[in-house]
Amino acid sequence: MSKKKIVTYGDPILRKKTARIKDITDDVIVIANDMIDTMLAAPGIGLAANQVGIDKQIIVVDLKVKSPDEKPIAIINPKIVYSEGEDVAEEGCLSFPEINIDVRRATKINVQGIGLDGKKIEFEETGIVARVFQHEIDHINGILFIDHINFVKKQLLRKDLRKIEDMTRNKEKN
Ligand code: CO
Repeated sequence: MSKKKIVTYGDPILRKKTARIKDITDDVIVIANDMIDTMLAAPGIGLAANQVGIDKQIIVVDLKVKSPDEKPIAIINPKIVYSEGEDVAEEGCLSFPEINIDVRRATKINVQGIGLDGKKIEFEETGIVARVFQHEIDHINGILFIDHINFVKKQLLRKDLRKIEDMTRNKEKN
């Protein structure tokens, strides 16, 4: 297993609706495990495949935020099949260093997908875990947390966002 580089805002892959996975190949399993390593090292509590430059529907979430007995998990082709409630809380994103914004999300969700063993998995989550799932599933659909804030709030972030875009562009040059 190894760590991957996290791509930052301005990289076009973050705006991509990623490709559905047809077969859980060894390659997919390696990517998912690398994503877990990358998330834990960052450190973060969730990560999507396009955040490490990979055009595939894979997300990883650290369920430890819920309980210390839980482990990080990977889900292939995750989909929110049910959601309810509404709540606003602060979020960060590994692709947006030093930016924290209030985001409105559902309070309870049901997510279905496929595990690394090829079997169907389903999660019913509330609170912070529900929030992380929504944030990461947005990512693999090319949606970013800044898309959830209004125009005025986005204007206030303009300078900070431009700074990250410049940093991303300079990284590409090197
Ligand atoms: Co993010």
